[in-house]
Amino acid sequence: MINVKKTLHVGMIGSGFMGKCHANAFRAFGGLFDSPISIELYKIADINDELAAQSARTLGFEHSTSDWKALVDDPLVDIVSIAAPNALHEEIALRAIDRGKTVYCEKPLSVSTESARKMMLAVEAAGVANLVGFNFLRNPLIAVCRDMIASGKLGEIISFKGRHAENYMLNESLPHSFRTDPAGGGAVADIGSHIVSMARYLLGGISEVTARSRTIHRSRPVTLGSAELAPVEVDDLAHAILQFDSGVVGSIDVNWMSTGRSMDLSFEVTGTRGAVSFSQERMNELHIWEAGKSAGYGGFKKIETGPDHPPYGNFCPAAGHHLGFNDLKVIEVSELIDTVLTGKSNFTDFREGYRVQCAIDAILRSTKSGHWEKVAGD
Ligand SMILES: NC(=O)c1ccc[n+]([C@@H]2O[C@H](COP(=O)([O-])OP(=O)(O)OC[C@H]3O[C@@H](n4cnc5c(N)ncnc54)[C@H](O)[C@@H]3O)[C@@H](O)[C@H]2O)c1
Repeated sequence: MINVKKTLHVGMIGSGFMGKCHANAFRAFGGLFDSPISIELYKIADINDELAAQSARTLGFEHSTSDWKALVDDPLVDIVSIAAPNALHEEIALRAIDRGKTVYCEKPLSVSTESARKMMLAVEAAGVANLVGFNFLRNPLIAVCRDMIASGKLGEIISFKGRHAENYMLNESLPHSFRTDPAGGGAVADIGSHIVSMARYLLGGISEVTARSRTIHRSRPVTLGSAELAPVEVDDLAHAILQFDSGVVGSIDVNWMSTGRSMDLSFEVTGTRGAVSFSQERMNELHIWEAGKSAGYGGFKKIETGPDHPPYGNFCPAAGHHLGFNDLKVIEVSELIDTVLTGKSNFTDFREGYRVQCAIDAILRSTKSGHWEKVAGD
């Protein structure tokens, strides 16, 4: 008997960094995960016909268009994958939800609390499967951290120290882009959403924040190579103190011009009987300190990722061979397909995307008011 799988057709908008990453993940999913669903890369949209057609050829889509609305409206599209600039997320997602499609949206969910709330309410009213691309949470070692915290292995949690430091905006001749657009731009909104989602995943809700930020490059070229400069109105870096619902006090710093740091999404969680420490720059290692070691045998011990940490074994049967950044996106696609199959929400659904946005908005409000700000959220 031939075992026929149901095929879901992907329509993707945006073919830059994340578009390539989504396409790779959708392509790889079928070969790595045993699923009743098979994925077809059906149609891709970008800003003009030429770029869309070129991207379709290189990324393996059958069709291309410069009209993302037509892509969303295409009855053959089952999953709308949003890998476009932040300011477009709301309009694309609302249209896709209205057409009953599964929506897979890159982080941050949107550019403000109100916008993210509108998207969350629409997706919940329509009951369509949805997921936000907080891919760093898909690392199997992050699940180990979460289990250690939740099971009490670390004792009472007393501190969270998180960081997201990269250097991709260090060069002052880099022009303005959606990343410096006051609507949803800045280091806090861009990479801050990753470390806030990590903090919430590990330690739960955040009720109040206080923060300070700075803009280091106060102007940038309007376009690449242009001599005309325009002021930068968003932050380059920020430090924030977080009050968690649980009573834990923590801190995060975000910095997109962090000299020498290419991908330091890192954290240390401290408990009364142990601690865990992680950095995305060494994403296959977790460092654990446990109380009770004999004298002379103290210090952090290194845990190495392997088949004991599912779904690592889907990628490789041997420990120490390492997962990579793109593999996190493949795991994320497998979780998206799970939500489609089971109808159950993923942790990073649109509601979580909204709550992360509430924390981001409170941090940004505090950088202006200079006071503690309450984090909204319902
Ligand atoms: N999850 C992660 O780790 C991660 C990493 C980087 C970026 N992101 C997010 O992914 C999204 C895209 O970022 P990126 O780094 O890929 O940006 P990018 O600039 O590399 O790519 C954006 C793409 O969208 C296209 N685009 C712009 N306007 C469009 C329109 N009107 N119609 C169709 N296509 C359009 C651009 O031409 C480009 O191909 C952003 O929301 C960003 O925050 C997430």
